[in-house]
Parts: sequence; C-alpha cells; structure tokens
Amino acid sequence: MLWSMSRRRLANLVPLLGLLSLAGGCQGPSPPTDGVQAPDVETRLGAMTLEEKVGMIHANSAFTSGGVERLGIPELVMTDGPHGVRHEHTRYYDKATGVEDAGTYLPVGTALAATWNQELGYAFGEVLGRETAFRGKDVILGPGINIIRDPLNGRNFEYLTEDPYLNARMAVGYIKGVQDQGVATSVKHYIANSLEYERRFVNVQMDERTFREIYLPGFRAAVQEGGALTVMAAYNKFRGAWCAESAFLLDDVLRDELGFEGVVVSDWNAVHRTLPAAGVSLDIEMGTDLSQEWLKPDYDAFFFADPLIELVRNGTLDESVVDDKVRRILKVMERIHMFSGDRPEGAYNTPEHQAVARRVADESLVLLHNDGFLPLARGDIGKLAVVGANADRKHAGGGGSSQVNALYEVTALEGLRNLLGDDVEVTWSPGYAVAPGAVADPGLIRAAVDAAAAADAVIYVGGLVHGYTDAWDDNAFDAEVLDKPDMMLPFGQDELIEAVIAANPNTVIALQSGGPVDMRAWAPQARAIVQAWYGGMEGGNALAAMLFGEVNPSGKLPMTFPARLEDSPAHALASYPDENLLIDHTEGLHVGYRYFDAYDVSPAFAFGHGLSYTSFEYADLSLTRGQEGVEVGLRVTNTGPVAGAEVVQVYVRDHQSSLKRPIRELKGFDKIELAPGASARIEFVLGEDAFSYYDPVKAGWVLEPGAFSIAVGSSSRDIRLRGEIEL
Ligand code: BGC
Repeated sequence: MLWSMSRRRLANLVPLLGLLSLAGGCQGPSPPTDGVQAPDVETRLGAMTLEEKVGMIHANSAFTSGGVERLGIPELVMTDGPHGVRHEHTRYYDKATGVEDAGTYLPVGTALAATWNQELGYAFGEVLGRETAFRGKDVILGPGINIIRDPLNGRNFEYLTEDPYLNARMAVGYIKGVQDQGVATSVKHYIANSLEYERRFVNVQMDERTFREIYLPGFRAAVQEGGALTVMAAYNKFRGAWCAESAFLLDDVLRDELGFEGVVVSDWNAVHRTLPAAGVSLDIEMGTDLSQEWLKPDYDAFFFADPLIELVRNGTLDESVVDDKVRRILKVMERIHMFSGDRPEGAYNTPEHQAVARRVADESLVLLHNDGFLPLARGDIGKLAVVGANADRKHAGGGGSSQVNALYEVTALEGLRNLLGDDVEVTWSPGYAVAPGAVADPGLIRAAVDAAAAADAVIYVGGLVHGYTDAWDDNAFDAEVLDKPDMMLPFGQDELIEAVIAANPNTVIALQSGGPVDMRAWAPQARAIVQAWYGGMEGGNALAAMLFGEVNPSGKLPMTFPARLEDSPAHALASYPDENLLIDHTEGLHVGYRYFDAYDVSPAFAFGHGLSYTSFEYADLSLTRGQEGVEVGLRVTNTGPVAGAEVVQVYVRDHQSSLKRPIRELKGFDKIELAPGASARIEFVLGEDAFSYYDPVKAGWVLEPGAFSIAVGSSSRDIRLRGEIEL
C-alpha cells in the first residue's frame, strides 16, 4: 500500500495509530500566523532561557534534537540516509511498529557513483528529498562521501569513490537534489572515517597535502557548491583530536576557510567531553545512550545537556557560545521552511521515484569483462541456470544505519524471470550457504554443477551479503561497525564458481558488493563479469535487462579494483590499524589509481573502466586557452551497432613541478548518449584548480607554469587522445 499522507496528516493520525513515540511527527512545523510577521532568529534567540537553548543542541530522542514549543520552534527531525529514508524509530531508537514506512530503495552510493552521471546525482537527491519531506523529516543523514581508501572498509558501499573530483561532482548533485525539496542534507562523515574498525577511537594521521588534495575537496564542494546545510562530524580522531572536538577541522577549515554557516551535527555518540566539544563549532550532540540503559537514555546527561548548563552557570563557558550554536540551528530551520510551513509536501513511492531507482541501477552496472558472450539472446537459450544465493537475496535491510524498509526489491532471479517469462526455462540453485563461517558445501556445489551442466548458459549471482550473517558478530560484509576480514569471496564461492565454469563454460559472473573482491581464482575462465553493487529496489530488473541487451551497460568503476588486497595502497604502503589504533596514511596522495599509476601496479580493473555493447571512437582533440581556463574539445562517435552511453574522462598531468605530482588526475568527465553512427563534440573547461597542487610550505594552492598534458579516455588506463598545453 502506498503511504500517501503528508506530515501534517501523519501528525494528526499519530494518536490514532498509538504512535506518540515516533521520532518524527510529534511536533510539526508551526503554521504561519495570518498577517503576523514570524519572529526572526534573533528575536527567538533573545526570548529563550539557557535551558531552552541547551535543549536544542543535544538529542532528545534517537533522531531529534529539541525544540521550544512555547516559542513555536519545532524539534529538528533527522533520518538516515543515504540511499533511502530509513524506517521509523520510536523515540528510544527501536523500530516503530504498525507504521507504513516502506519506501523507495535506491542503489547504494558506490552504484550511484558508478553511473558517472551528474544529472542522476541530482535526481537521486530529489527522490530522497521528496520522500524525506513526505515522511515529516527535516534532515537526511547523507550523502556519505568518505574517500574509499581501503577495500576492507565495511562501509565503502555507502560512499562514492576513491577520487576527490568524482566525489565532489556526484555529491553536489545529490545535495542540491535533496535541498531543493526544502530539507537539509548532512554530509558525512567529516573526515577520514575510512575504516569501521574501532571507529570511535582510531586516530587518523595524514599530511597536509593529502588532506587538501584527496580528503577535503568533496566536503569543500559540498559546502561551497552544494550549499550543504549540515555536516556530520565523524567518530574518529584526526591528528589526535576527535573530529567532534577538532578546532582545526571545525573552526579553522570548515567555518573560517570554507565559509560553512550551517549546523555541525555529531555522529551518534561521537562526543566524548563537554568543554572541548562545546568550545569548537560543533552544534548538536546526537546519539543514543551507550550505557546499559540505552533503550531509555537519559538525554539530560548528554555532554551538551546538563553538564553544559553547569559550565555556563559556573562561568567556565560563555553563554554566547551556546547562542552561536542555537543561532545556526535556527537559521537552518528557517532555510528549510520549518517556521513558515512553506516546505513542499514531498511525495512517496511514486512511479517517478521507482523510475529513478531503475535508471540509476541501469547506469550503475559495470561490465568488467566480456569476451563477446554478452548480451545474451533469448532465442539462443532454452534453459538458463541461475546459480548463487545472492540471486534470491534482498539487500535493502542490510548495512546498518543505511538500511531501508523497501516497498519492494526485485532480486536478480525475479528480474530474470520477469524479463524472460515463459520463453526461457530458468532454474536456480543457491550453490553456497550464507552462514557465519560457512565454507564450500559439496552438496550445494554438486546441485549447482548439475544445473549448470544441463543449461545453455549460466548466470552466477554472488558476492557479499551486505550485512551481518549473524547479529553483530564478526561475520559482516559491507556493513557498518565491522570491516571485511579480507577481500575474498566468502562461503566457498571461489570453489563453487570454478566448479560451475568447469561444468558449463558459458558462465557469466555477476557480483553484488560495495567494492572489489579477489577474482583471481576464476576470472580468466569467466566469459563475462559484471559488477552489480547493491542495485536498489529495481536492481534485479536492471541486471536482467543488461544481460539480455535491453540496456547497454554504461557504468564505470568509481574505484580501482586491485587484483589482490596486498596490491591496494592502504595495504602495500600503509597498514591496517594496530593495537595503538593509529591509522597512518603513509601512502599519502597515493590513494586509488594515483598509487597504481605511480608504482606501476596492474589493477584487475582500472578506475574509470567499464565496457559497452557498442564502441566509441575519440577524435579531433583541441586544446585552447580561453577566458575561463583551458578549453578541451573532442569528437566522440558511436562506431558500433547499438545505441550507448560513454563516459568521457579527462585527466591532467603536470610535467615539471617543484613537488611530485600524480601521473594523472581526473579533472573532468561527461556522460554522453549516442545512437549508432552518431557523433558529438564534447567540450570541457579546465579552470586553474585543475592544474594546481597544494604546497604545504606555502600553505596554499600553487599553479606552476610549464607543460601539462591532457589525456582523454574511456578509463584511467584506456587513454584515447593526448595533447599538451603550456601554461
Ligand atoms: C552512523 C551515521 C548515522 C547515525 C544515525 C551512526 O552510527 O555512523 O552514519 O547517520 O549512526 O543512524
């Protein structure tokens, strides 16, 4: 059933449903009073007692911070994020029952980034913004834009990419899409929360140049271009200070340098002490209670609650510090129409939202390898064996805080059956068991092998499980709180795939995971390999359509896929945190492809890689110096038999510089759709920032004159055109 009631209607219904404890909807925005000017921020602030102000800067339930009813200030209602509006919680965090909260489940962050389609970033955000507004929430806790540094990070699926430029471009679209609907985003997790292991205690060290060139650009763009209204301070320490206490991160960089005027929200329970956190520009302490009483937390005991009042009362902290925080919150509330009641109502579970989920899923599929076997033709296949437990598995509920109660989720098996109907006989055998510590199961393998041998073609759908195989134990893949144990496929899948390919060489491997797995055992024998991520509610339909040629793949990898874990820079040049909980980024700038290029390591699949069923020719590169920067022009022609979309990527290299620079850096991309035989001219303008690097001694960005090469290609390792320009 569609949930078709507005926030106000929901608020009216709440008592009827017996849901007074719902996190959202208890205190709707105060309606405008006819003819009477709403009080401005300073008037409201001036009318508040210290207790009322402090009530606004800490959680008063699992997903709200306090309002001041007598002054018409509603609670600020938040929700996860980032790829759907999370299910309803009671005020004490547990799942609310008896409420229709099943909504649109979009593909995960890495899938969105794999589309390399900025318009889809906006459309994705628009869906989230509309559904957030409809559900009566004010802030959606996303996008997640931590740089993907280490394949083991349990939360990579929620993030976008290893590359700062792609990160910024996709984040800006998402943020604008959400905020144009009158709700705020919370860009997270600021900053360098790139592992889940001991995330509340690890200390991240990195040099200043790496911070500026790799980790900060996404947040800079989110704030300065996207206009993000809130930012979430991460759990970890950064150079010895907790992110929620860091004067460098919050005051010097975010406020003073980036000019961020919005609200900084802590990650849940990321605050550890009152004075150090209150003294910097952290505005709201969020969290549930981590004590044994966690289902009935004492919010008055939060660091930004009674202890803070005490510090003001005894003269340790000036009340103006609290005023600044409250002022920023009130301003954001104004921006998202919480006082005027002018926020658009939003919409929920519309066919348009489902169409966006489908389009993102279509465009996110990355065809990693194809010897010509794909696309499959229905007419050639009488019997199709689908093998793999993931073919029948749903993922919306996985991953931790990003979980979504999906209105529906089409699995790969259902997608294939939907598409093929009665034309093709489709069998399914799981082949492996999803269970903690499960290894290859001879019985399941035998059944899968028999099915494969009896079929004309095999579609293997495996990968990771996106969640905990056993509640909160050590068996999690692509899930919050726990990193992956290694980069191997779990549950004996390598053995299974090898046996299936031996039984029927016409096997396509489709993997659902947030990032790379080690494919060495079987990749050379597979006829085709598809990276399918976690594709949202329409993921199964998208995969089936792509395998059978109804959709031409156009996704490109937003991160390098190393052949093996040891080849990834965080493992080759740095190490997984030890007992001292130090995450030292000794690899520096060598994150992702910057490492593979500089150290001449062959990846399994390069950053930006993704095949198509058609072919594209690149020609006529022109480089000219224009008013705004270097104008890069080229012609792309679809030289193959079918329509398709190509992601044209522009990489810059500085030939001579005082400091060592990466061999190539992405500085522009565009996705272009072309009919067979059609061609189009594409133009990019590369501004000063595309050629500059951060000089830590000068503490600023430097553009050194000299020769730069511009490489244009279909991936970071498939460069089709090169040119040089003197600056
Ligand atoms: C996560 C955040 C999330 C928050 C609220 C935290 O554990 O790190 O990303 O938004 O919980 O669920």
